[in-house]
Amino acid sequence: MDPRVDEIASALRGSRKYATLTASALQRIAAWALQRHPTTRAALQAARSKLHQAYGAYLTPGNLTAVERMVAALPMPAARDAVVEASRAVLARHASSAERLGFLSDLYPRLLGPPLDLPHVRRILDLACGLHPLALPWMGLSPETEYCAYDIDERLMRAVGQFLMKVGQTGRAEARDLMAWPVTPALPAADVVLLLKTVPCFERQERGASLRLLQSLEAPCVIVSFPARSLGGREKGMREQYEELALDLARGLRARMEPVAIPTETFYRLWR
Ligand SMILES: C[S@@+](CC[C@H](N)C(=O)[O-])C[C@H]1O[C@@H](n2cnc3c(N)ncnc32)[C@H](O)[C@@H]1O
Repeated sequence: MDPRVDEIASALRGSRKYATLTASALQRIAAWALQRHPTTRAALQAARSKLHQAYGAYLTPGNLTAVERMVAALPMPAARDAVVEASRAVLARHASSAERLGFLSDLYPRLLGPPLDLPHVRRILDLACGLHPLALPWMGLSPETEYCAYDIDERLMRAVGQFLMKVGQTGRAEARDLMAWPVTPALPAADVVLLLKTVPCFERQERGASLRLLQSLEAPCVIVSFPARSLGGREKGMREQYEELALDLARGLRARMEPVAIPTETFYRLWR
């Protein structure tokens, strides 16, 4: 292995923004950057910009600190109203979940509705979850449904794990690099897998990475979603391009595809 991989990974770990990303992700991005850029300096710059695209653009360190405080301030047990209010405030801190705020009540009965038999769903995996698990108050899950959330940042996952505990939801939050191959330790089988708004981000890093990950999982229902516009506000042609990506996933998984749309996002329920 190129010895500069460690040098770049530790420079990234030394920055406020990326200090708590999983070690495997920092190493992977450092190696990726060195394959494309001859000098350490250029590779470090490329690694930073890749991490910004994949992670930093959605959640600033300041917002993460605010999230930690809000979750820590939730009493235990917390009344539903208090949880709903805190969750809304937290969801607003992540660029991705903020866009769903106006549609939460209508969305989940459609997304997790029939033919899913919600009271009998035993386990849900929320991959590259960001702060999406904070939408639990709108999902209507039984507290016994195991909610397993994964994202690349350890600090973020600690806050999500604390939230799950405080609201009494069975489950866990683990920091994992889902682009590392194979994902280690392997993810458990589940009734439903969520991979929301993350396929474009994975595909930009490595074509085919989303299908590879989803194919490795045992789950009869996979839900992927795509934003209606980019973070920069670009909209033109995106729906068509993303529908093509969803179709590729459906073909690869040999799944039947069913769209569910809200103004800011299109979801596809893929049934295997
Ligand atoms: C567009 S956001 C979507 C967040 C969430 N799924 C939602 O829809 O609200 C993309 C998420 O992917 C996560 N991510 C990016 N690369 C990852 C990786 N290699 N492993 C795990 N998570 C990753 C980022 O940290 C970020 O939270």
